[in-house]
Amino acid sequence: MPEQIPLNDGSAIPRLGLGVWQVDPAITAQVVSWGIQTGYRLIDTAEGYQNEEGVGQAIRTAGVARSELFITSKLRNGAHQRDAALRAFDETMNKLGIEQIDLFLIHWPVPSQDKYVEAWKTLIELRQSGRIKSIGVSNFNRNHLERIIGETGVTPVVNQIELHPRFQQRDVREFHIKHDIRIESWSPLGSGRLLSDPALEKIAGKHRKSVAQTIIRWHLQEGLIVIPKSVHQDRIATNFDVFDFELDAEDLELIRGMDSSGGRTGANPATAAFLF
Ligand SMILES: NC(=O)c1ccc[n+]([C@@H]2O[C@H](COP(=O)([O-])OP(=O)(O)OC[C@H]3O[C@@H](n4cnc5c(N)ncnc54)[C@H](OP(=O)(O)O)[C@@H]3O)[C@@H](O)[C@H]2O)c1
Repeated sequence: MPEQIPLNDGSAIPRLGLGVWQVDPAITAQVVSWGIQTGYRLIDTAEGYQNEEGVGQAIRTAGVARSELFITSKLRNGAHQRDAALRAFDETMNKLGIEQIDLFLIHWPVPSQDKYVEAWKTLIELRQSGRIKSIGVSNFNRNHLERIIGETGVTPVVNQIELHPRFQQRDVREFHIKHDIRIESWSPLGSGRLLSDPALEKIAGKHRKSVAQTIIRWHLQEGLIVIPKSVHQDRIATNFDVFDFELDAEDLELIRGMDSSGGRTGANPATAAFLF
């Protein structure tokens, strides 16, 4: 069982969770059930993934108390306006079939529509009503964070951003530490692209672990929250089996050297304008 780390609002979040982006809605309940049976307690979904119903089904049938699970979902980009956000949130809760969600995030800032402050105020309102335990953001750059904090006085508990050995985001991590905002690494395995990297294969071989386990371990040792995705039961299990070894200083130094400013695999939050 991975330990939890404290959040700036007094809650705590498991350090290792299961992401379900691109998991087919038809198999999501099965995949999440495997995850919960393995020991995952943090499940990361989003309105945009269209598989919240499957997550909800797994929550009800997995045989683990709701209070032991930490469920995250995210507000879709086309619903930043207050009324739309409230409606979208209701839909999320109906699909998940839960009374209170542990963490709800604004999925992307979409600066071009300039509504993320309104969305943040709506999340604050929902938290005050008790339906959300903790509120956070995703894909927010420093200027977006400064603006929502400046306009509301409320600091997100987490910012979920693309982060992996080829895109380590060292410059933005300092700002997060200063403001006590935890970083959740999305696409922690580079969406699978890092799994045949020769340098990582070498480090993995040294520890008799897989490359995926080596990368997940790296995120944990860097103090990051990590949410790898897999639809395979064996991979879901091995990705969780990362608490019996430790990367040493030489490994960490080698991985540090893999960082590249061109390592981003996903959209750039400063310009991403897709609505869903
Ligand atoms: N907030 C955002 O904007 C945002 C954006 C992207 C992702 N996310 C979150 O982050 C989570 C993880 O990111 P991600 O899904 O992009 O990618 P990822 O976790 O970095 O990598 C997943 C890929 O690696 C493969 N994989 C996983 N474990 C493996 C193993 N042990 N051996 C071999 N292959 C393995 C998976 O294939 P199989 O499934 O076939 O095993 C899949 O192709 C998402 O599910 C989502 O929850 C958030």
